[in-house]
Amino acid sequence: MAVRPFTEPELVVASHNAGKVREIRELLASFPISILSAGDLGLPEPEETGTTFAQNAQLKACAAAQASGKPALADDSGLSVNALDGAPGIYSARWAGPDKDFARAMRNVEEELRAKGATKPEARGAKFVCVLALAWPDDHVEIFPGEIAGTVIWPPRGTQGFGYDPIFLPEGFDRTFGEMSAEEKHGWRPGETTALSHRARAFKALAETCLTG
Ligand code: IMP
Repeated sequence: MAVRPFTEPELVVASHNAGKVREIRELLASFPISILSAGDLGLPEPEETGTTFAQNAQLKACAAAQASGKPALADDSGLSVNALDGAPGIYSARWAGPDKDFARAMRNVEEELRAKGATKPEARGAKFVCVLALAWPDDHVEIFPGEIAGTVIWPPRGTQGFGYDPIFLPEGFDRTFGEMSAEEKHGWRPGETTALSHRARAFKALAETCLTG
């Protein structure tokens, strides 16, 4: 089926995560689209019952599009650590517990890696994954994945970004995502050919596919 271009003036961001909504606003800042967040609209948060990032992104985007009657964009993302068979993966947010304690979530990753004897950098490979789903109220969905490879470091470094950023050293860099400004972390502006973060890579695909006239 042909890709559906996005031509509407408004887009609902189907997330209640303030860090994500902020990044999505930054990444879409140069497009003439007004962004409404699911939190601001008081939309319910659907249960993430999928077994993949793509399934969860799709179910969040479709729920928000249905509830609001407007197109909605959802991001399902997380950190997949190779030595932990991809964990925390789709459970990245849950590892932080109900109080969203990411210091604890990062410590859990470190403890699991140590339990596997993964202390050398080459045993600590990981990737951040982001899958975007853009859904319309008629249930049409477009999916855009993005990934960035790197290494889990300890102790955490940096206070920028959110979630697991302070323990993720992207390949080819000597600073963690937590030590980078938003501009450096994403490494992309519409029209540019390179993108760094998993989210920027997925947005680049979205912009090139659906947002260009
Ligand atoms: P969900 O997609 O809302 O289920 O949660 C994704 C979780 O993955 C977030 O709460 C973060 O913990 C983590 N995550 C996703 N993207 C990033 C990122 O860019 N930096 C740090 N952590 C991230």
